[in-house]
Amino acid sequence: MSLCIGENLKKLFSLENKVVLLTGAAGGIGSVLAEGFASVGAEVALCDVNVERMDAVTQRILDNSGKASSHYLNVMEMKSIKECVQSVLDQYGRIDVLVNCAGINVREGFLDVEESTYDRIMNINLKGMYFISQEVAKHMWQNKKGNIINIASHNSVGMLGGCSVYGASKSGVAALTRSMAVEWAQYGIRANALAPGHILTDLTTVTWENPKRSSYLKERIAMERPGNPEELLGMAIMLASDSSSYMTGSMIHIDGGCLAGGTPWPYDTKY
Ligand SMILES: NC(=O)c1ccc[n+]([C@@H]2O[C@H](COP(=O)([O-])OP(=O)(O)OC[C@H]3O[C@@H](n4cnc5c(N)ncnc54)[C@H](O)[C@@H]3O)[C@@H](O)[C@H]2O)c1
Repeated sequence: MSLCIGENLKKLFSLENKVVLLTGAAGGIGSVLAEGFASVGAEVALCDVNVERMDAVTQRILDNSGKASSHYLNVMEMKSIKECVQSVLDQYGRIDVLVNCAGINVREGFLDVEESTYDRIMNINLKGMYFISQEVAKHMWQNKKGNIINIASHNSVGMLGGCSVYGASKSGVAALTRSMAVEWAQYGIRANALAPGHILTDLTTVTWENPKRSSYLKERIAMERPGNPEELLGMAIMLASDSSSYMTGSMIHIDGGCLAGGTPWPYDTKY
């Protein structure tokens, strides 16, 4: 019998007993990933700077008989990164999967961006992700096993006006994913990126509530709608599980066909 059918297939996609350190766990996408991972058996270490919202997500998971804990993390501070990773290791003894989801955006024209804004976006989206990955990979290296998922963006590839720094940071996330894959395969560590398109969360409400911006976007998304965070979950579970064991250095777009292109004007069809 093939190793890839029936119960074996279920095991392949299971996160049973996998310890997942998830940054940005209090956010729109992070909270859905946390609850989804826990629902397929993971022990989820939620890490975020927003303790109140993080604790609420942790409590929801525990109330649903899942396994979860909260750990304060400010990815802008090296001390906080080290303390957070140590606190997860103290609790679980290992980290099987790291998901880098913490991120921010500030929409400003290229000519308007001040150094402080540039530094803040880069420090959270890129530098923070770099150093927490380094810290976690040092432990994964000892186990000769590990798995990293970086949340990139449509803006890793396609740009929008007013998102120059964000786009640069997310292009950096795509590049670092490839570097991690290349350098760390020898230690049994995989790294892939998940690039969401336009997803409805607090980060993007400002865009979707603006009629002009939202109709502009819908015209450029083949499916003509934003995605929901839940629509990222299946692929995230696949990347976190052993079902993707031969994948590393890849970036998967989940964007309703945004990169594929949209239809800004009607065309004749007999159907
Ligand atoms: N929403 C989208 O359409 C979209 C599209 C592409 C990529 N993304 C990416 O997905 C990720 C999550 O985005 P979201 O839409 O859930 O946003 P969100 O604002 O809802 O969540 C972001 C989370 O990151 C946390 N965070 C911010 N600064 C931090 C810091 N210094 N240290 C630790 N945590 C910090 C916030 O507290 C928040 O919980 C981000 O990396 C974002 O760039 C989002």
